Order: sequence, then structure tokens, then C-alpha cells
Amino acid sequence: MKAQLENIYNSAKSDIEKAVSIADIDDIRLKYLSRKGEFNSIKKGLKDLSDEEKRTVGAFANQITQELEELLKTKHDAFYQKELNEKLQKDRIDITLSGKYTPQGKVHPLTSTTDEIVSIFQNLGFSVAAPEFSPEVETEYYNFDMLNVPKDHPARDVQDTFYVKDLPGVVLRSQTSGAQIHVMENQKPPIKVIAPGRVYRNENINARKNNFFHQIEGLYVDKNITFGDLKGVLNEFIRLYFGSARPTRFRSSFFPFTEPSAEVDVQCIMCQGKGCRTCSGTGWLEVLGCGMVDTNVLRGVGIDPDVYTGFAFGMGVERLAMLKYAIDDIRLFFNNDKRFLEQF
Ligand code: DAH
Repeated sequence: MKAQLENIYNSAKSDIEKAVSIADIDDIRLKYLSRKGEFNSIKKGLKDLSDEEKRTVGAFANQITQELEELLKTKHDAFYQKELNEKLQKDRIDITLSGKYTPQGKVHPLTSTTDEIVSIFQNLGFSVAAPEFSPEVETEYYNFDMLNVPKDHPARDVQDTFYVKDLPGVVLRSQTSGAQIHVMENQKPPIKVIAPGRVYRNENINARKNNFFHQIEGLYVDKNITFGDLKGVLNEFIRLYFGSARPTRFRSSFFPFTEPSAEVDVQCIMCQGKGCRTCSGTGWLEVLGCGMVDTNVLRGVGIDPDVYTGFAFGMGVERLAMLKYAIDDIRLFFNNDKRFLEQF
């Protein structure tokens, strides 16, 4: 039996010498030392031996299995090191190589400003009007007539409004206020919407004026809506948009579609109210017009002004962005100079 053990030991040893990988080592361990391996099947015969033989052969069997275990481990560790080194060599990362530059696009400042304003009003319970209620190509009917703008109002003049050639009564909208009419024609109060979009005016372009710009229209119609609600909502908007207290003022004004009407001015950020080119020396910049929806407008869309009241506002997105980021020329938004756009 001892001779048998020796034979197996020798053949295991030569197998180990021939092994070239961790996989070989695992196979050898399985073949000789596992529960079903060759040593175990022989060790089963121990029980038939005399006590004396059991002791010596048993001790011998233990000794050679232990030796084999050690040989296997040494070989295994060596292969492991070698394979690891090869892998490290192969997968080496050259950290001195400079990274690849991936240029990243940015959201245009007018888009991000619009998104921010929209989200503030959404948090105040306003929803965004469906796009079909806010078309850029409008009829005079929605852009002026239904908003109580008299036929001879100077804003209708071709000097202010772009009329579409060969299509009488069709204009590029000069204000987003027409969206109010579309919404009220299609929805019953309570109505609480905003409508962001582009508007067009035939202006001489300068630092403060462009021939198209962006507005966000707002409309809240319900029972018992008061001028106090209007002031509350707009003051809260200004507080949230500018983050900290910014000097603002409500100034009474006139719009054909609201009565009473007001305008909100925010102190000029360029000169802190001292007066400069941006605010044409006044220290203030007008950012929105607003008021209580005129009873004529409500009646026009079939809403009974004895039951419902409402307020409306229209704010200039460029103005609000200029005041927040201290941009002193509206043209910067539109001439796509990357040095400007990359700052946002
Ligand atoms: N549409 C006006 C403008 O473009 C702004 C405005 C004033 C909108 C009063 C309103 C409003 O909704 O109630 O100058």
C-alpha cells in the first residue's frame, strides 16, 4: 500500500512539474487530492490494515498529501503572479497621455431664462398653454381686435407691426397677449396659464431693442381675483427669480386690454439705479406690463365680468436675463458669439 501511495505521489509530482497554468494546477488538485481523487480511494483501504500498519502508512499518506498541497500552492502562487504581471503589462494605462477634448454644447441663456421663469410660475400653480394657443403668425383679430386695441392704435401701424405681405389681416405677432384670447375661447375659468414665445416688432435695432424678442404671457381668471392677487404673484415671482431683494416698483400705466394697468420696473443692475446707457439714465428697467383683464376682453370671449375677474401680465425675457446677468446689450443674445454664449 505504501508503494501504491509512493507511485501516486511520484506521478502527481511529475504532473505538477509539467503544469503550465493555474488551470493545470486546479486539474491536478482535483485528480489527486479531492474527495473522489486517487489518494482518497487508496486511503479507504487503510481500515483493512493492522493497527501498526495503519499508524505508519496513515502517517506517510498524510505527509505526502501535505507535501503535494504545498507544491501545488507554491506553483499556483507563481502562476498567479505571472498571469497578473502579464495582465498589468498588457492593460497598462499611459497616464501621461493627454485626454480627449469633447466640446460640450450649452443651453442658450434665453432658453435657460425662459425655463427658469416657466418653472417658477408652474410652482405658483400656472400651467403652460398648448402651443396651438400661442402662434407666432397671428391675425390682427387675436393680436389686436380681441384685446380691445382700437383700429387706429399706433401699435397697429406698419412702423411697429410686421404685416404679412399679400395676406390681409395676418401679422407676425407683436405681443404674446393674443394667447390669452385663444385660451379663453377654449377653456372655462378657472384659468391659470402662462404662454412663452417670440414676438416681432419693426424696431430700429440698438442696445435695448431688437426686431424680435421673447415674452412670457400670464393669465389668471377666476371668481374674486383682485389687484392684490396680481401684486402678490408678481412680487413673489421677482423674489424667486432674482433670489434676493431687488428694488422694484409698480408704476401705473395703460394697456387697452387691462384696467387698471401697471408696469413693473426693476432697478438697473448696471448702474445700481444711478442712471446709465442701458437704462437710458433713469436707473430703472421696465420688465413687464400687467393689469386686471378689461371687461371688454372678458365679454368678447363670452366670460361674464360680473362673475369672473382676472389679471394678466406680459414680461420681457431678454430684459429679465439682462438684469440678472448684467448684460448691457440685447444684441448679444442674437449674434451667436461663442465668447458670450460660453459664459452661461
Ligand atoms: N402685451 C404688452 C406688451 O407687449 C405687455 C402686457 C401688458 C401684457 C399688460 C399683459 C398685460 O398681459 O396685462 O407691451
